[in-house]
Amino acid sequence: MSDVILIGSGVGGADPQALQLRLANRHGLIAGATGTGKTVTLQRIVEGFSAAGVPCFVADVKGDLAGLAMAGSATAKTYAAFSARAAEVGDTDWRSRDNPTQFWDLFGEQGHPIRTTATEMGPLLLSRLLDLSEAQEGVLAIAFHLADEEGLPLIDLGDLQAMLANVAGRAAELTTTYGNVTKQSVGAIQRALLQLRSQGAEHFFGEPALDLDDFIAVDDKGRGVVNVLAADKLMASPQLYATFLLWLLSELFEALPEVGDPDKPKLCFFFDEAHLLFDNAPAALLTKIEQVVRLIRSKGVGVYFITQNPLDIPDKVAGQLGNRVQHALRAFTPRDQAAVRAAAETFRPRPGLDVAAAITELKVGEALVSLLQPDGSPAPVARTLIAPPGSRVGPITPEERRVLIETDAIGDKYDQAVDRESAEEMLAAKTQESAAAAAESKAAGAAEKTAAAQAKEDARAERARLAVERAVQRDQERAEAAARREAQRAQANDPWAKMATSAARSASSSIGRQVANEIGREVFGGGTRRRSSASSGGGLIGSVARSILGNLLRGR
Ligand SMILES: Nc1ncnc2c1ncn2[C@@H]1O[C@H](COP(=O)(O)OP(=O)(O)O)[C@@H](O)[C@H]1O
Ligand SMILES: [Mg+2]
Repeated sequence: MSDVILIGSGVGGADPQALQLRLANRHGLIAGATGTGKTVTLQRIVEGFSAAGVPCFVADVKGDLAGLAMAGSATAKTYAAFSARAAEVGDTDWRSRDNPTQFWDLFGEQGHPIRTTATEMGPLLLSRLLDLSEAQEGVLAIAFHLADEEGLPLIDLGDLQAMLANVAGRAAELTTTYGNVTKQSVGAIQRALLQLRSQGAEHFFGEPALDLDDFIAVDDKGRGVVNVLAADKLMASPQLYATFLLWLLSELFEALPEVGDPDKPKLCFFFDEAHLLFDNAPAALLTKIEQVVRLIRSKGVGVYFITQNPLDIPDKVAGQLGNRVQHALRAFTPRDQAAVRAAAETFRPRPGLDVAAAITELKVGEALVSLLQPDGSPAPVARTLIAPPGSRVGPITPEERRVLIETDAIGDKYDQAVDRESAEEMLAAKTQESAAAAAESKAAGAAEKTAAAQAKEDARAERARLAVERAVQRDQERAEAAARREAQRAQANDPWAKMATSAARSASSSIGRQVANEIGREVFGGGTRRRSSASSGGGLIGSVARSILGNLLRGR
């Protein structure tokens, strides 16, 4: 099997440009104005990966990438142009071919549903998704911590809502332990959750949760499976789109082993309309994206951004994109011209080629290409006719989609949501229990009642004290074990491995740990740290939780 993907060549097959599979995890960029050939280029590259046994994930924003599932037809409008182009660039292997595909849809309409649990997403990403203020973020972190401590699984949005209602009911009690837990903050989170629900996100939180192995699959012919995410509707909720993709990358990052630079990637990601990932993203989220993109390379995952304007990609991310295909850009406005200059400057120059001028002159299906060479350095930029894909260019019919979904390897594994006993049901049961208990004690004599209430209160206080003691002890043990593991890992691995621990999902447990430690200090007077801020009413735990969150986002 070839160890490169032919991207195209100059006129008459001169100077062929090939993507080295060994360097395909060094990420890439496909840029260009609308209608210049980005999607067709992407399709060509995805086909190359699939043929080489590399599974892919593509976000299908316009529905036109679904055509990857079908062989191109000799009656298609593009057929003549494509076969002429294949001959021109010397692609003797070009023919109509389909690709093994799996369709996914967060809303469960145009593909298999993708779900995750609230716990898996964690308070950090969820705060981003809900656009919470710092104070609200602290409260959400406390809700996650309590759920963890009290054995209440947070699976779906109903669980989160029930947990938050519970937190609001205990706001006064919690405020004495954790610092400011206001009903206003809880109310604001609840409203944000309602809005999220109205965007259809309730489909996304639940079980069965996505098994990443279903993504990283090859078919019986050894071709990599192409996972197509229906993202058209998702585009209306850019925050959900961005958070979902970041969650997926973080998940992969955590699940996959360190492989350095493998012979070919384990998986390649293609994010169309990539600017949506970055538009209005808070600095902390940008840092997180930058970090995940940088680190995931060593897990053998390549990330390819597709965007109209290369300036849409923040410098720190753009600087990591080794393989570049730049289609034509317009140069009408000053911003256009700045983009052209910026794009031109990112290329390794080639004597005799005026890159900035060429960018505005490129024809459809033509691009300036600079791919990493076998020694890892970028090749001098080359004006390239892009080789055509063999699959259909454009969408598929609903009927075709239905058949493809029903006959793929995923089957009905995810089709039915499972609502197991979790926080919502457990909290409802608790409320019922305490209502029954209240009725009982009402029936008893008044004196007895007071005595019982007092005894209950004493028992509760004692339980709370023991629970805190246990939590502190457990968390100390956990922290020590983590420190030991960290020390071993730091010795064995490169510096990036240390940062792995900051992945979003671990946020909940580490916040829990540190919050609990802080409670221990407060309750037992074992420490003096920032006591003044607690007495000044700033909400010690809230601020601690926030500073931990801040640290996590900064990669610690
Ligand atoms: N490599 C190519 N060879 C021949 N024609 C192409 C090529 N790339 C694009 N085209 C033509 O241009 C049209 C638009 O391309 P497309 O990839 O959808 O643009 P974009 O994604 O940048 O908006 C295609 O439908 C096809 O007809
Ligand atoms: Mg397109």
